[in-house]
Amino acid sequence: MKLAAALLLAAASSLVAAADALEAPLGAAGDAQRGRAVFLQREQGHCVICHAVSGVAPAGDVGPALDGIGARLTAAQLRQRVVDITQVKPDAAMPAFHRTEGLKRVAVAYAGKPLLDAQQVEDLVAYLGGLK
Ligand code: HEC
Repeated sequence: MKLAAALLLAAASSLVAAADALEAPLGAAGDAQRGRAVFLQREQGHCVICHAVSGVAPAGDVGPALDGIGARLTAAQLRQRVVDITQVKPDAAMPAFHRTEGLKRVAVAYAGKPLLDAQQVEDLVAYLGGLK
């Protein structure tokens, strides 16, 4: 029930144009260790394909290096960027990881499903927040 409400909130907020921050957590408090795993794993975030973090391999360079990101952005700003970065930068070359509406060319098996679930988003926010 709580999760459904959070998902509704996320959906509603993605209708608001150009939001820089998503204040409400989508799930229980994130776990940085699990977030790191999501960051690395191919079946999950696979953020490393585009981003570098010191001491983490592989390290992509499509997006900016994320060292120190936890000192520059708040948890709410990090959450917004993981959920749907096009709310911050409409032309960003990064996928919206927790948005289901408005996506194009989605394989049938993935239709209506966000790339990452609410808890994975919170785990990533905890991990990124610790990169100071
Ligand atoms: C296809 C490549 C790609 C993937 C995959 C990707 N990103 Fe990004 N990301 C980008 C790009 C490009 C930007 C810069 C957006 C812009 O300013 O245009 C970015 C920006 C960001 C930012 C903001 C950085 C800043 O300096 O403000 C964060 C945080 C971020 N990504 C986290 C993640 C996380 C976490 C994942 C995995 C769940 C991920 N990204 C996956 C390409 C990617």
